[in-house]
Amino acid sequence: MIIKSSTKNYEVKIGTDFEMAKNLALDATCFVVVDSNLYRLYKDELFSSIPEEQLYVMEAVEEKKTIETALDICEIMTNIPAKRNARLISFGGGIVQDVTGFVANILYRGIHWTFYPTTLLAACDSCIGGKTSLNYKKFKNLLGTFFPPDEIRICTPFFKTLTEKDFQSGLGEVVKFNVMFGEKGIRNIEDNIDELLKRDDDKLLQFVNSSLLFKKDFIEEDEFDRGVRIHLNFAHTFGHAFETMSHYEIPHGTAVAMGTIVANRISLSRGWLDEEKVLRVENVLWKIIHINTLHIQVSMDDIISAIHKDKKQVGKELTAVLMKDDMKLQIVHDVQREEIENAINYLFDKLTDEKEL
Ligand SMILES: NC(=O)c1ccc[n+]([C@@H]2O[C@H](COP(=O)([O-])OP(=O)(O)OC[C@H]3O[C@@H](n4cnc5c(N)ncnc54)[C@H](O)[C@@H]3O)[C@@H](O)[C@H]2O)c1
Ligand SMILES: [Zn+2]
Repeated sequence: MIIKSSTKNYEVKIGTDFEMAKNLALDATCFVVVDSNLYRLYKDELFSSIPEEQLYVMEAVEEKKTIETALDICEIMTNIPAKRNARLISFGGGIVQDVTGFVANILYRGIHWTFYPTTLLAACDSCIGGKTSLNYKKFKNLLGTFFPPDEIRICTPFFKTLTEKDFQSGLGEVVKFNVMFGEKGIRNIEDNIDELLKRDDDKLLQFVNSSLLFKKDFIEEDEFDRGVRIHLNFAHTFGHAFETMSHYEIPHGTAVAMGTIVANRISLSRGWLDEEKVLRVENVLWKIIHINTLHIQVSMDDIISAIHKDKKQVGKELTAVLMKDDMKLQIVHDVQREEIENAINYLFDKLTDEKEL
């Protein structure tokens, strides 16, 4: 798959084995950044031959997604005998992607970058689109640029070692893409969610591929997020609020799955979607939302104000992307507090029920 972008077109390759990760063909111009959990798990199989001076092992936690980590990597990279011809190769999820994308963008005004997404979330969604983001003080993703990798290499067996929590988070984005695709997508995910949960490599390849193809159309038409790309914000307006108030205990994709329920419940109350469809989507989502409700013991006021603080909110009225009339996406500018409260109360009641089972 080739993604078109104004800086460069780039290629995504997906494989159901580790071949692409094994044949790195490292020379002195290469520098490799690896997620520390990944390094521990795959050191012998994949990373043992990387010379120490060409390797940076990075802890993938939000506290490290900072300009300091990015500058640290830049500084260490000055030690390899390459400048603008340096090649950065990184392995990890969205955190490693955000930091190394930023490094590849600013070091020597831009160097070659190959990214291996190793979480399902990074593989099915964030690896394309070119966004890099860093946290600054208490501000999540405050700093950032647009800079896509030159090559993206996805090896589905990496997803076998993800924790249940991180794997299900990735599925949150996969389900979201299928729901956005309408009836055909919903049927597709209903038929395949159980196999996906078993982490079947062929199924994962198929769904990573279809998720990326779906996203590709939006980012190619609106690379810099000024127009049609806003549709990809479906479920995220509410999802971001759940992430923030749980202090990132609820991972991104799980928050998006919860946001999908809220968005569709609002559509249902407006008579824009029929209950049968909404319930079918929820049946799939309950299979992947397993969170400790302790993380969401906050007031409705906090949630609503977190939604208003979302950087996509421009005015006083709340804007959200909702499904309308047979699953078409629509940007809506008049979402009322009461509608959101009702939808969130529904979600929280169900989550509490689940915990009591
Ligand atoms: N740039 C974008 O477009 C974009 C889009 C969405 C999210 N994000 C960012 O991505 C981050 C979340 O990324 P994420 O959900 O991919 O995960 P992550 O990078 O936070 O990693 C989650 C956990 O999985 C571990 N891990 C990674 N690969 C593994 C593997 N194969 N086996 C076992 N463990 C593995 C990591 O060490 C970490 O503990 C957030 O900071 C978010 O803001 C960026
Ligand atoms: Zn997302």
